[in-house]
Amino acid sequence: MKKYKVGLIGATGMVGQRFVSLMENHPWFELAAVAASSRSAGKKYEEAISGRWQLREPVPESLKKLTLLSAESDVSAIASSVDFVFSAVDMKKEEIKALEAAYAKAECPVISNNSAHRWTPDVPMVIPEVNPEHAHVIESQRKRLRTKCGFIAVKSNCSIQSYVPALHPLKDRFGLARVLVCTYQAISGAGKTFESWPEMVDNVIPHIGGEEEKSEQEPLKIWGEIIGDEIAPAVSPQVTSQCVRIPVTDGHMAAVFMAFRKKPPIDEIKHLWNSFKGRPQELDLPSAPKQFLHYFEDETRPQTGLDRMLEGGMAVSLGRLRPDTQYDYRFIGLSHNTLRGAAGGAVLLAELLCADGYIQKR
Ligand SMILES: NC(=O)c1ccc[n+]([C@@H]2O[C@H](COP(=O)([O-])OP(=O)(O)OC[C@H]3O[C@@H](n4cnc5c(N)ncnc54)[C@H](OP(=O)(O)O)[C@@H]3O)[C@@H](O)[C@H]2O)c1
Repeated sequence: MKKYKVGLIGATGMVGQRFVSLMENHPWFELAAVAASSRSAGKKYEEAISGRWQLREPVPESLKKLTLLSAESDVSAIASSVDFVFSAVDMKKEEIKALEAAYAKAECPVISNNSAHRWTPDVPMVIPEVNPEHAHVIESQRKRLRTKCGFIAVKSNCSIQSYVPALHPLKDRFGLARVLVCTYQAISGAGKTFESWPEMVDNVIPHIGGEEEKSEQEPLKIWGEIIGDEIAPAVSPQVTSQCVRIPVTDGHMAAVFMAFRKKPPIDEIKHLWNSFKGRPQELDLPSAPKQFLHYFEDETRPQTGLDRMLEGGMAVSLGRLRPDTQYDYRFIGLSHNTLRGAAGGAVLLAELLCADGYIQKR
């Protein structure tokens, strides 16, 4: 099969590196262009990344000699040489918005990790197992942008991937009314390691800028519906959150409390979790976990160190479901923040959009 040609903007960053490693040997996709800031442009990938590579696996040989382009200055050259781009740049929000729109207008679909366009009403924010139907709004977005192929689709914030997937199969069936969630988030979520953030060793920081708002509001867009040319966010459940940075490398954990209008039996919740299948599983997409939600009966699980890499870091681990005194039930969720929560989630979204015909090979 001829592969889709992929561009990667922000290729040198922490999320960019994850994309690079996920693209190696991907059955559908091959990296054809890599770009970063003007500081890196013109350098070989190997040189630009020297001293900054943070993954255990080595830099892929095929990429070492590729010359980095400028994400901002080389838009048309990149857009015309690939079928779509992944975006994982760290710039000001307005700059990212403009940059991603420039690629879309140059007829290049953009699958973004960034938050800049998450609240643009005709930009779908998709967890592929939860709201794949939101891709339909792409047609409205193309009308607004006056494009034939170009559009922007985004993935949601990494922390909500540890609990929204678990709440999803219960939400409509049992009338999920209220959710309280505390997230315990890894330092890679801030693009950091213990070397670059030594203050995090033996420490907990009770604040992550903007994270609580995202944790409370993004689920409502994910559960929203397309009305006219836009996605109208859901109005319930009410979600309240606290987000805390903890000293682990990768893996965001969530302690979740949930109240229903119609309280389900505990065994039915476990059954719905273990049997849940989304469109990626039905389509058997290359990056889809075989089983999306795994429930552990062992009350010491899920653990970040043991379980974050479940199904290649693409599954969500759940445990400790039990009655609560204030809410109906409480449980623990865990997902890998730079795989399922960032690059892996975006690759799965791109696979879905290719399978459903929104991205085409030139
Ligand atoms: N880390 C996570 O777990 C995570 C999860 C979800 C979403 N995100 C989001 O993903 C994005 C990237 O995060 P990260 O942790 O990978 O950041 P990072 O390690 O700081 O990497 C930033 C990337 O952006 C590039 N860049 C910076 N300024 C640029 C400019 N003016 N023009 C073009 N490229 C520019 C950098 O290129 P140079 O090397 O040339 O400077 C680098 O490739 C951020 O928006 C972040 O919020 C991160």
